[in-house]
Amino acid sequence: MVYQTGTVDSGPSTKALLLRLLREEGGRPASGEKLALALGISRVAVWKAVRALLKAGYPIDAGEPGYSIRPEEEPDFLYPWEFGERENLFHHFLRTESTMDRMRDFALRGGDDGTVVLAERQEAGRGRCGRNWVSPEGGLYLTVLERPEAGSRLSPAEYRLPLMLYQIAVARALATACGKPALLRWPNDVYVGGRKIAGLLCEFSGEGDSLGWTAVGIGINVNNTVPGESAVSCAGLSGRDLSRRDLTLAVLKEAAVLKEAAELKRLTAGTGSGTPGNRRLAEEWNSLAEGIGGSASLVRFTPEAGREKDGGILAAGTFSGVDALGRCLISGREGEKAFQSGDRSLVYHRNLGSADKKISIGGIIVETTETKTVPKEEKAGQTGTAGRDPRRRSVTPLVFVALFAALIAAGAFLIVPVGPVPVVLQNMFALLAGLVLGPALGAGAAALFVAAGAVGAPVFGGGGAGLASLLGPTGGYLLGYILGAFVSGLIAGSPKPERKTPALRLALAVAAGILAVYVPGLVALSRFVGWDRVLIAGFVPFIAGDAVKGILAVLVARRLRRTAAALLSR
Ligand code: BTN
Repeated sequence: MVYQTGTVDSGPSTKALLLRLLREEGGRPASGEKLALALGISRVAVWKAVRALLKAGYPIDAGEPGYSIRPEEEPDFLYPWEFGERENLFHHFLRTESTMDRMRDFALRGGDDGTVVLAERQEAGRGRCGRNWVSPEGGLYLTVLERPEAGSRLSPAEYRLPLMLYQIAVARALATACGKPALLRWPNDVYVGGRKIAGLLCEFSGEGDSLGWTAVGIGINVNNTVPGESAVSCAGLSGRDLSRRDLTLAVLKEAAVLKEAAELKRLTAGTGSGTPGNRRLAEEWNSLAEGIGGSASLVRFTPEAGREKDGGILAAGTFSGVDALGRCLISGREGEKAFQSGDRSLVYHRNLGSADKKISIGGIIVETTETKTVPKEEKAGQTGTAGRDPRRRSVTPLVFVALFAALIAAGAFLIVPVGPVPVVLQNMFALLAGLVLGPALGAGAAALFVAAGAVGAPVFGGGGAGLASLLGPTGGYLLGYILGAFVSGLIAGSPKPERKTPALRLALAVAAGILAVYVPGLVALSRFVGWDRVLIAGFVPFIAGDAVKGILAVLVARRLRRTAAALLSR
């Protein structure tokens, strides 16, 4: 289904105005009469607009006191009426082959400068060099149309300028949204922490000796899952979902600011020198680029049988950024040469902070010829925080283990006085450790807790301590915390910053974890009460409470897993 609206000048639609009024009420109901009066339309027209919004998926309640919206349940919609004054320039598809194709249709039909096509999913998303751009839900996929007026058109040699403009805008918007430096890689990528977060693509039409229109396609990993270690999403970085609408507006705003700052009303000749290209834009690009001054190779890729093959090295030397046309400058033995992009990509010879000894080029991975870590000082100047700080990597897991061990210990004193036997929350925290940290770290936290108790810290139920407690009737349960944390972590899997774990998997994990706590618990208890009474004494009275604790652990783990993963993967 496609949502689009009328002409550029028609202003905000009834849907946009109605949403604004409902949001202003902050969840309180507004009567149909009041809304009709405020909008200058009939109550029937209000009802029709409400129905259309309900159909589009908005959480609106329609009842006796009037209409209200549940603000905290509003999904991250990208409908045209979410984009304010210029909503008529926006076109939204729930699914389409590629926003590039849709934009081409609009451009050929005379679409206005600034037209934006957005899609929730692309079924045939395109990347550079004939590659696919896998486009699952949660990502941001848009194409923007640049159609300069007749007197200010670009020459064919300047075709990269609109793309560079949006590439910088995307990097700036992402840096603000994710709170981390986002850096450019030639020709069309944006990276955060050595992992690809966005890619751009441009298509244009030639009219005589100038470009008629340029369509810039932008794909950003926002809340979608990303494959492998070479890519990352905003949600993976920040541990929470981000508003794709706000990110879209931020990218468009940054692009508008850049156009002004670089005097890019006409994208060319920003310096008035009469030479083609735009030096200011190139300077801005270079200031955000990764790897300038480092050694690199320019390679050609040819898609073959679905996988890319190295089509050969075209140049090798020192990468010195881009020139005013956005060409890649490589200084070799024969001096500096400028290369257009086309089917070429730049391979950095040094590890610019990628997670392993491979380097990602436009979404694909190649082995590097020489991999050496960039020294810290060089990173700070050249690549920001693109590299991982090895000290932080080794400390963070220990901090998590200690925190969860402390939480399990604190559970000894969090006693809920319900039922014949009061409920202690320690096993819930042990399972939570497994669910949030994964098997190894989760079991590590439980083991640290047990070890602390064994050497005399008063951390066992009700403040008990010592080896005697471990060898007593309830000692098996304490050891069971280690097994429970391990099993729940094993089934839940290690947390991934870019992926939400399905609730069902967490529920299975916690159920298995609870049973795992009981196994050593009942074996140890049987020595004191005998096998015939062990279930009645050690299982039946507690299982209902444990089920409730398990549900709580799942709910908390769902919120914490991605945040923990993001911190652990830094
Ligand atoms: C690349 O890294 O190779 C460029 C990827 C560009 C992907 C975007 S998503 C929106 C637009 N529609 C497409 O089919 N491709 C671009």
